Amino acid sequence: MHQDVENIMFSKEQIEKRIAELAAQLDREYAGKNPLMVGILKGSVMFYADLLRAMTIPVEMDFMAISSYGAGAKSSGEVKLIKDLDRKIEGRHVIIVEDIIDSGYTLSYLKRMLYSRKPDSVKICALLDKYSRRVVPIEADYKGFDCEDEFVVGFGLDYAERYRNLPYIGILKRSVYEK
Ligand code: PRP
Repeated sequence: MHQDVENIMFSKEQIEKRIAELAAQLDREYAGKNPLMVGILKGSVMFYADLLRAMTIPVEMDFMAISSYGAGAKSSGEVKLIKDLDRKIEGRHVIIVEDIIDSGYTLSYLKRMLYSRKPDSVKICALLDKYSRRVVPIEADYKGFDCEDEFVVGFGLDYAERYRNLPYIGILKRSVYEK
């Protein structure tokens, strides 16, 4: 375990097993639909890569990047589009792939924006759901795990851009972010 990690919340094995279950569910529900899998950079990258490799139906890949207007602004719900999709989504089945839903601002913004482009459907697949932090009412359609309100890092999740490449999801030691 990394020295800055207090505890492992979800192990590599637990994550792998859960992703396989989600992939099987998506395979069943999206058979014949050629879904467009939209990864939200950067946190979703690990989940996205593993989820797509565990799926067996044909899928297409695209990415978006979003940013909040600095640390303070996130609580105001202001988000900004940094990178848009490469292609049109009209008539497509879209699955947004995220690492975590916290306040819900990012996904409610994204869902609204994508819906305005007339896709057939937009669903959310999130690895973690920190439900207790929700400010806007948004739900994952496909969810890996419920997550306690702890400072979690790893498997794509960062603190100041660090720890994203840990193969598990761990709770960061308070001493790391309180010093
Ligand atoms: C994280 C995460 C979600 C968002 C969730 O991204 O990947 O996109 O925050 O929070 P919300 O529900 O409160 O909007 P972040 O802005 O940290 O960027 P990153 O993916 O590059 O780490």
